[in-house]
Amino acid sequence: MGSTSRPLLSLLCLALLFYSAISELCNPQDKKVLLKIKQAFNNPYILTSWNPNTDCCDWYCVTCDSTSHRINSLTVFAGNLSGQIPPEVGDLPFLTNLEFHKLSNVTGHIQPAIVKLTHLNFLRLSWLNLTGPIPDFVSKLKNLTFIDFAFNQLSGSIPPSLSELPKLGGLHLDRNKLSGPIPSSFGNFPQGLYLFLSHNQLTGSIPSSFAHMDFGYIDLSRNKLVGDASVVFGSNKTIQIVDLSRNLLKFNLSKVVLPKSLTSLDLNHNMIYGGLPVELTTLNLQYLNVSYNRLCGQIPVGGKLQSFDYSNYFHNRCLCGSPLPSCK
Ligand SMILES: *[C@@H]1O[C@H](CO)[C@@H](O)[C@H](O)[C@H]1NC(C)=O
Ligand SMILES: *[C@@H]1O[C@H](CO)[C@@H](O)[C@H](O)[C@H]1NC(C)=O
Ligand SMILES: *[C@@H]1O[C@H](CO)[C@@H](O)[C@H](O)[C@H]1NC(C)=O
Ligand SMILES: *[C@@H]1O[C@H](CO)[C@@H](O)[C@H](O)[C@H]1NC(C)=O
Ligand SMILES: *[C@@H]1O[C@H](CO)[C@@H](O)[C@H](O)[C@H]1NC(C)=O
Ligand SMILES: *[C@@H]1O[C@H](CO)[C@@H](O)[C@H](O)[C@H]1NC(C)=O
Ligand SMILES: *[C@@H]1O[C@H](CO)[C@@H](O)[C@H](O)[C@H]1NC(C)=O
Repeated sequence: MGSTSRPLLSLLCLALLFYSAISELCNPQDKKVLLKIKQAFNNPYILTSWNPNTDCCDWYCVTCDSTSHRINSLTVFAGNLSGQIPPEVGDLPFLTNLEFHKLSNVTGHIQPAIVKLTHLNFLRLSWLNLTGPIPDFVSKLKNLTFIDFAFNQLSGSIPPSLSELPKLGGLHLDRNKLSGPIPSSFGNFPQGLYLFLSHNQLTGSIPSSFAHMDFGYIDLSRNKLVGDASVVFGSNKTIQIVDLSRNLLKFNLSKVVLPKSLTSLDLNHNMIYGGLPVELTTLNLQYLNVSYNRLCGQIPVGGKLQSFDYSNYFHNRCLCGSPLPSCK
């Protein structure tokens, strides 16, 4: 018995070894690239699971496609990572999701090798410490549905070509140091886009092309925009949330046609004049703030307008009526 069980056992061991070797799903090229990325970041703690002796499809911060087993997602979030995003990220050709988020010691420019990632649909490089411009090449990644470069130190003007992304649903460029105007091409985005450009140094007026654009959500607050914002609104639109607060906008609010879809409108700290449109009483408003402008006349009575705090209306030229003191 003993003489037959020994070779059986070693055969079993061999089979097990063989099995574990072929059962590694990870693509060897992808594995090599990931290990280079780990090395470029100086082997950070957050990438400890990236051990060359294990299957890279089991590593943290990455996922493999279920059929091709190629790396399709790289998501690094809130770890102690420092240095620049290395060019090797461009060598994961099947990535659809690329995310570096909340890593304040990650510096440098937006990595140019990202242009090679033609399958990308989700790109988030946010809450890092990136500098330099938003590169034009981003508009070549035609499958992008979501871009988030918020909370960095990006500067320069916004590339007009971003509006050429046919599937884009969200663009977050807020909390940077971007300057210059909002490109007029931004009136040609896919309908319903969520656009966040707040907390930058944008100048000029809101493009007239916005008259034909129906955003879902627009936040242009805390910039230096001037002139008329009525093109953001319009009777046929389905826009829900509008924040234009803390700019230098100057237009007659009485002439604005508010869409029925509007649920939140923040216009505080501008130079808006005229009066509050009576249609405000017919909207399902969750939030309204028109404080610190040059508005006049009575606050229309009805809807939720009287339920808002007086601070949503105060510091205007001669706005009056509940919840402000009554008109004389
Ligand atoms: C960033 O780097 C500084 C200096 O090396 C270090 O003290 C700090 O802990 C790092 N912070 C994070 C979140 O990695
Ligand atoms: C983060 O990493 C830096 C350099 O790699 C190191 O100096 C620092 O102590 C680390 N901070 C934390 C919170 O781990
Ligand atoms: C970002 O980088 C700058 C230098 O480029 C540095 O002064 C600053 O402290 C960094 N910010 C954070 C949050 O690490
Ligand atoms: C873009 O996305 C579509 C639909 O998700 C997919 O069929 C197509 O292969 C993608 N193209 C690239 C280059 O990844
Ligand atoms: C609103 O839509 C209707 C019907 O589609 C159209 O006739 C009208 O011209 C549009 N109005 C504006 C201001 O675009
Ligand atoms: C604002 O527009 C309304 C409606 O067209 C008009 O009656 C009013 O005089 C205008 N207000 C100012 C200050 O121009
Ligand atoms: C409206 O905006 C003003 C100015 O920022 C602010 O002081 C006030 O608290 C806001 N009101 C509410 C209820 O948010």
